[in-house]
Amino acid sequence: MTTVSVFGGTGFLGRRLVQRLVAEGTTVRVAVRHAERARIALRAAGLDGATVFGADVRDQVAVAAAVAGVDAVVDAVSAYVETAGVTFEAVHERGAETLARAAAAAGVARFVLVSGIGADPESASPYIRARGRGDRAVQQAFPGATIVRPSAMFGPGDALFGTLAHLARLLPVLPLIGDGHTRLQPVYVEDVADAITRILADPGTAGRTYELAGPTVYTLREIFGIALRITGKRRLLVPVPFAVAQAQARLFEFLPNPPLTTGQIDLLKVDNVASGTLPGLSELNIVPKAVEEIVPTYLGPTPTR
Ligand SMILES: NC(=O)c1ccc[n+]([C@@H]2O[C@H](COP(=O)([O-])OP(=O)(O)OC[C@H]3O[C@@H](n4cnc5c(N)ncnc54)[C@H](OP(=O)(O)O)[C@@H]3O)[C@@H](O)[C@H]2O)c1
Repeated sequence: MTTVSVFGGTGFLGRRLVQRLVAEGTTVRVAVRHAERARIALRAAGLDGATVFGADVRDQVAVAAAVAGVDAVVDAVSAYVETAGVTFEAVHERGAETLARAAAAAGVARFVLVSGIGADPESASPYIRARGRGDRAVQQAFPGATIVRPSAMFGPGDALFGTLAHLARLLPVLPLIGDGHTRLQPVYVEDVADAITRILADPGTAGRTYELAGPTVYTLREIFGIALRITGKRRLLVPVPFAVAQAQARLFEFLPNPPLTTGQIDLLKVDNVASGTLPGLSELNIVPKAVEEIVPTYLGPTPTR
């Protein structure tokens, strides 16, 4: 691939993908809503070579400009909270479809959609449903699209271990949502960025759906335990029923950076592990890194209180 447009190229995953693509000599366009913020962030990361396009996925004209003349498009856009005009449907379903249609119309060779394990067009959850319908709409608009469905991603700046560590520093007790029995298979964000880079380089991956998960399945309770062990904190875990957590998340969503969202609660209601029926990291020749290897490198112990 010589030129790739990465929508969401400043995000938790997107910026790592941009870094890899630039490092291997690919010409990269970063398409986001906040262009100036993106230029500053890219400059600070030494990625001045990437060109920034201000392109909201809800804006067909801006999207068409950002995909014109490229070899591949990656949709790594995210909306975790619904606000006026920014709904899960607008971003994950119609936005993904807009990108796929524009890429097809521009004759782009490859399209990669970043979705998530458990995406389900029939789900009662607006977040999970929009993800599932987005996958379906992209496959219809761009039949050779590759879909990657990661489990919860970890790495510096993550919303999983990072948020738990932050809450453990602030609170004397931690809310264990839904009793903590839900199972997750966290995957290292760099492994996901590596997977997308390999997918772009291999035409044989076109039209396939990959589930990207880490080497180990944990219950949510075990994940809380790992975060506490690594940060050196001892905190009581208090089970919180899903309905109560959902009500709390609705209030948190008024904050600029909510520690918990209704979409996350919906995701925690069902296991978030690889189905085993779809290809994953091993088919891309990637050995997934373990939580125990990576998380201590960015969540060191802090003085206990
Ligand atoms: N993080 C996880 O654990 C996880 C797990 C499974 C799947 N995923 C999926 O992986 C993908 C990337 O997630 P992430 O955590 O890296 O997201 P993120 O950190 O929230 O980044 C989102 C990116 O999308 C851009 N963006 C948001 N709304 C946009 C819009 N309307 N038009 C254009 N760009 C827009 C943002 O920049 P601006 O704000 O400047 O627009 C930013 O660059 C998402 O599809 C997410 O659902 C994430």
